[in-house]
Parts: sequence; C-alpha cells; structure tokens
Amino acid sequence: MNVLITGGAGFIGSHLTSALLQENRCNVTIIDMLHSYYDVNRKKERLKYLKSLRNFTYHQIDLLNEEKLSEVFKQNTFDIVIHLAALPGVAYSVEKPNEYVDYDIKATINVLKFAGESQVKHVIFASSSSVYGDQANEPLSEEMFNGKVVSPYAAAKVGAESFCHAFHHIYNYDVTVLRFFTVYGPWGRPDMAIPLFIKRLLDGESITVFDQNTARDYTYIDDIINGISLALDKGNGYKVYNLGNGNPVSMKQLLATMKSYFPAMSIIEKGWRTGDVTSTWANITKAQRELGYLPTVSFEEGLAKTIEWAKQYYTNKTYN
Ligand SMILES: NC(=O)c1ccc[n+]([C@@H]2O[C@H](COP(=O)([O-])OP(=O)(O)OC[C@H]3O[C@@H](n4cnc5c(N)ncnc54)[C@H](O)[C@@H]3O)[C@@H](O)[C@H]2O)c1
Repeated sequence: MNVLITGGAGFIGSHLTSALLQENRCNVTIIDMLHSYYDVNRKKERLKYLKSLRNFTYHQIDLLNEEKLSEVFKQNTFDIVIHLAALPGVAYSVEKPNEYVDYDIKATINVLKFAGESQVKHVIFASSSSVYGDQANEPLSEEMFNGKVVSPYAAAKVGAESFCHAFHHIYNYDVTVLRFFTVYGPWGRPDMAIPLFIKRLLDGESITVFDQNTARDYTYIDDIINGISLALDKGNGYKVYNLGNGNPVSMKQLLATMKSYFPAMSIIEKGWRTGDVTSTWANITKAQRELGYLPTVSFEEGLAKTIEWAKQYYTNKTYN
C-alpha cells in the first residue's frame, strides 16, 4: 500500500509516519514545505529521526505549487492520501486570516484535485474541533456542527471540509474527515499551551494564561495516531469522525497539575483571547462504533510523558 502524508514533518504527521514505518505497513511518501510558523529546526529534527527508522520518500514542496505537486502525483501511485498539512493556530489566524485561505483551503483543493486525477482511493483529512464553534459545555457529536465558528482557522477548516465533500462527489473516492481535539505529547507544537507552559517552566519563566474558565479535551498523540491508523483501511463514502479523549480538562486543573511538577510556577493572567472557544469536549461514540477507536492514555499519564520528553529534549536535543 502506498501512502502520501502531507505535513509529515509536523507534530502529528511525524508521529504517524513513525508508526507506519515501524509497523512496516506501507510505503510512505511525505510532502512538507517546512513552513516557518514555528521553529523549522524541530521539523528537521523530526525528519532526521524518521530517516533513522526506515526508508521513505520526502519532498520539500509547497502544496500551493501545482506544478511540483502534480509531478509527485504523476511519479507515484498512491492508494491513500492523508492530508495533515495546514497552517495551524487560532491566534495567528486572527492576525493573518488570508494565509489560512492559502494554506488551509487552497492547498487542500490542490491535494484533493490531484488525488482525484490520479485515482487515489481514499483521502483522510485532518480537521479540528474548532469547527464546532463556541457551543455549550457538553459533548460535541459530529452532527452538532452548525457552521457558527469563531476564528478564521475554524472557518478555513470548515471550508476545507466542504471542498472534501465536493471532490468526493466529483471523483468518487472515499473521504474520511477526522476532527482532532487538542493534541499533545512528545515533539508537540511549541505554539500550543502544554508545550509552551512546559518550556517556560523548565526555563524558570512565568507562564501566560488567557482565561482560567476554559477547558480542552486534551488528546494524547498516541491515541490520535491509533485513530488515524484505524481509519486507513475503513474508507466508506464520505465520513466525519471526532478523535478526542472524551474527558475535558479545565485550565485550573491543567495549572494545578503543572504546579505539582513545577512548584515555583508563576502565572501572568491575561483576559479573554479573541478566536478561542470556552471549552471542547468530544463525543467519540461514532468513532468508537465505526472505527473501533478507544483512547487509552489518561491526561495525567500523557502529561507525565510529555514533561519527561521535554526535559530530555531541551537538555540534550537528541532524544527520540
Ligand atoms: N495539533 C492539534 O492539536 C490539532 C488539532 C486539530 C487539528 N489539527 C490539524 O492537524 C493537522 C496537523 O497538525 P499539527 O499539529 O501536526 O501541525 P504542524 O504545524 O506541526 O504540522 C503541519 C505541517 O504541514 C506543513 N505545511 C503547512 N502548509 C504546507 C504546504 N502548503 N505545503 C507543504 N507543507 C505544508 C508544515 O510545514 C508542518 O510541518 C493540521 O491540519 C491541523 O490543523 C491539529
């Protein structure tokens, strides 16, 4: 089986590539432009680690470059495309909304179009819990999507989901949309709360908290990778699934747990941040029922592993 992973040098993409290479399950090709949204060295280090595992093909290409992208599709026969590449981040999307039209919508259209023209059978698209907008504090099931999003990032993901449906209709390939709920773990994205807090606390600095009355359904990276792996050979028309943990953690709870690791922790409180939602909470019944998805890593266990990784990483920079 030949699989193309876009965004393979990213946080989720590199973990997925690592899992697929170690399982020896398929031939993997990665496309990643190494976007400078966050430290490019972290992306290069992930690729270096992946190269130490097993052979795979890597193209440093911007998905917006149609000519180069079409060459990759012409030179290969992919069975499955896992489209993870995007510009992530809610706060930056408020500052630079047009970039999200380019990297999250136009790049997705290019992938969907070339996948269709080259007879790909199944496209998996990385969407986000942010598409649910700021709904009441209750488990969000897939059908609770109502389009009332509160950030340009979320709007771009909604747009990209719609294009997924349109191109599924045009090309008749299976599309599985996976809505991830705040993912964390080793090699995490340095712009997200947990990695950001850990780095600052390891450096003895204060952390900035926007609002303590928020909650997130933090989902450990291994559970997300398991969810994507389960979806790989279950293409079946156009399907949408939540991949979350199903147990939201309040900001107060996160801070209390952080303090148990870093007793000297000091906090700078800021007000509400535009674009954020109050809480996220995944209803994972559908993914459980249809994919067999069952998250197994508790927040306490996942955070312990993430802190341990960060200590090693920032000390010797060679930890895998
Ligand atoms: N991490 C989370 O909590 C989370 C939650 C919900 C959804 N998602 C989605 O999951 C996907 C992966 O997220 P991540 O956290 O691994 O982000 P990431 O930024 O670590 O990975 C995305 C990768 O895509 C690459 N990329 C971006 N635009 C590109 C382009 N035009 N051409 C080629 N490469 C490009 C980047 O260089 C980056 O390495 C994204 O679509 C994101 O929106 C992530």
